[in-house]
Amino acid sequence: MPTRTIDGYCLGIESTADDFSVGIVTFKGEILANVISAYMPPEGGIHPREAARHHAEVANKVLEEAFQKAGIKRKDLKVIAFSQGPGLGPCLRTGATVARALASYLGIPLVGVNHCVAHIEIGKLKTNTVDPVTLYVSGGNTIVAAFDSGRYRVFGETLDIALGNCLDVFAREAGLRQKPGEPFGAVVEKLAKGGRRLIPLPYAVKGMDMSFSGLLTAAVNLLKKGERLEDLCYSLQETAFSMVTEVTERALSHTEKKEVLLTGGVAANKRLQEMVKTIAEEHDAKFCVLPSQFAIDNGAMIAWTGVLAFTHGVVTPIHESFVRLRWRLEEVEVPWVK
Ligand code: ATP
Ligand code: FE2
Repeated sequence: MPTRTIDGYCLGIESTADDFSVGIVTFKGEILANVISAYMPPEGGIHPREAARHHAEVANKVLEEAFQKAGIKRKDLKVIAFSQGPGLGPCLRTGATVARALASYLGIPLVGVNHCVAHIEIGKLKTNTVDPVTLYVSGGNTIVAAFDSGRYRVFGETLDIALGNCLDVFAREAGLRQKPGEPFGAVVEKLAKGGRRLIPLPYAVKGMDMSFSGLLTAAVNLLKKGERLEDLCYSLQETAFSMVTEVTERALSHTEKKEVLLTGGVAANKRLQEMVKTIAEEHDAKFCVLPSQFAIDNGAMIAWTGVLAFTHGVVTPIHESFVRLRWRLEEVEVPWVK
């Protein structure tokens, strides 16, 4: 049974894309539960409505499991947090509905949390960083961000598809197979180890922003022309990871921050970790990567950000709890960060 330091907990609901997750944390940042249920499409990419149906189906079970793991009762909760955006409409709405219902039933406040802010906050909590340059790379996001004058600012981002999506689509086009629960990015990573030749692919950094769709198309075309799969996986990784690493390095050099935080599903990639660690060291900055359960979409990050917001006076009345599909990181005030 986890130790409890104060009698009050925040429950966070994450449902922006293919994961439905519930986390329960104390106001001091102890994570008592972080239960994640991933929707696996039978084939192809995620269909928002089908993912949302999955979320509705598993919501009760995931909530029950989270309460059991945390060893607390519903009435012990002080606040409910939910990911309000950005994300897929039907998925976000399902999580928001569960959150509203719980908060109204229990008569406690609701806090709408920005998903990208939550990735950064859980990263800071779990790696003991204070003011990092964050590289957040997942299936839906590619963002280099850092705090400046009251907000997290986006220093660079993708202009089209996300890095993880680029790896996933390449893997699907190549007909690669996954083991149950294994992400396509991990399959590409394994194959890349067998790469012997760096094949030139479009490297697209424009200012501080990146583009991955030309790279993806070129890699798929070369595969169809008979280039070796392992060489392409290797070259795809080297090219795409160099792009995000270059932008991260420039943000680091511009901001002169002393910490680099790597998060999102793609953060699990050892080659990416190595590249980002190298630039961090060159700038005398501490390199931190999150363990997978906190790097992927998870309820604990929403719960923890809910605590930070709530203890700094942020609450979301039900009539303002509509989901925000395109809610950008720099729109969010973060009064808890100094
Ligand atoms: P978000 O809603 O934040 O965009 P998401 O729904 O894409 O998140 P995540 O679990 O954060 O979910 O990220 C999944 C992505 O991470 C997928 O594109 C997957 O292929 C990629 N990924 C997972 N493991 C690895 C790995 N070892 N190497 C590269 N990519 C990986
Ligand atoms: Fe995410």
